Amino acid sequence: MFDRSIKIAPSILSADFADFGREIRAVEEQGADWIHVDVMDGHFVPNLTFGPPLCKAIRPHISTVMDVHLMIAPVDPYIEAYAEAGADIITAHLEAGPHIHRTLQAIRAAGCKAGLALNPGTGLADIDYLLDMVDLICVMTVNPGFGGQKFIHSQIDKVRRLRAMIGERPVHIEIDGGMAPDTAPLMAAAGADVLVAGSAVFRGGSVSDPAPYGANIRAIRTAANAAVGAG
Ligand code: DX5
Ligand code: ZN
Repeated sequence: MFDRSIKIAPSILSADFADFGREIRAVEEQGADWIHVDVMDGHFVPNLTFGPPLCKAIRPHISTVMDVHLMIAPVDPYIEAYAEAGADIITAHLEAGPHIHRTLQAIRAAGCKAGLALNPGTGLADIDYLLDMVDLICVMTVNPGFGGQKFIHSQIDKVRRLRAMIGERPVHIEIDGGMAPDTAPLMAAAGADVLVAGSAVFRGGSVSDPAPYGANIRAIRTAANAAVGAG
């Protein structure tokens, strides 16, 4: 049975970069289901974060799922490095290059689950022949590159239509950007099951006082579950 229950994936983009190991363990102890790792190359997006060496260094601290979101172009030359770094899921953007079919094949060939990310401006017309090649589709609800941005409401309809397209396939719908207790129910009701949250999870807490992380995660999960009648 494919697990479509609501899952919260804190994005370490909003964590203390100088203390990733303890931040990851703290947010997992406080209820995180997955750990979302935002890789930015300063080219595909106007920001630069970290690469395979950092991913390898944080892997031992992740006991849940390492969900690597590649905002880089090109993607293919780096897939092996992120697989070796310990990624469970590698997500590439449809907009990152002309050969997404080959990229998704290469991610699975490297032994990882394959994710496909769509920018807010990208429609669903080009994914028909990719639905059986992915384990996850990430709908960006902000323009990628930064945390703390405003949720783009036009994507609710996209998720509703995507959920219908996926049907019974074992494919997660991940929402990335602006997830909080007020926006998460909108996407859960539309059919999403994985909710990435950076600023809304790490706000107000720290590794020495992680209780706010737990309260933030519970607030998002409770709001989303209420929208789908799950307790
Ligand atoms: C943005 C990243 C997101 C970001 C989400 O490009 O892909 O994962 O960290 O941060 P919030 O939840 O603060 O919008
Ligand atoms: Zn992300």
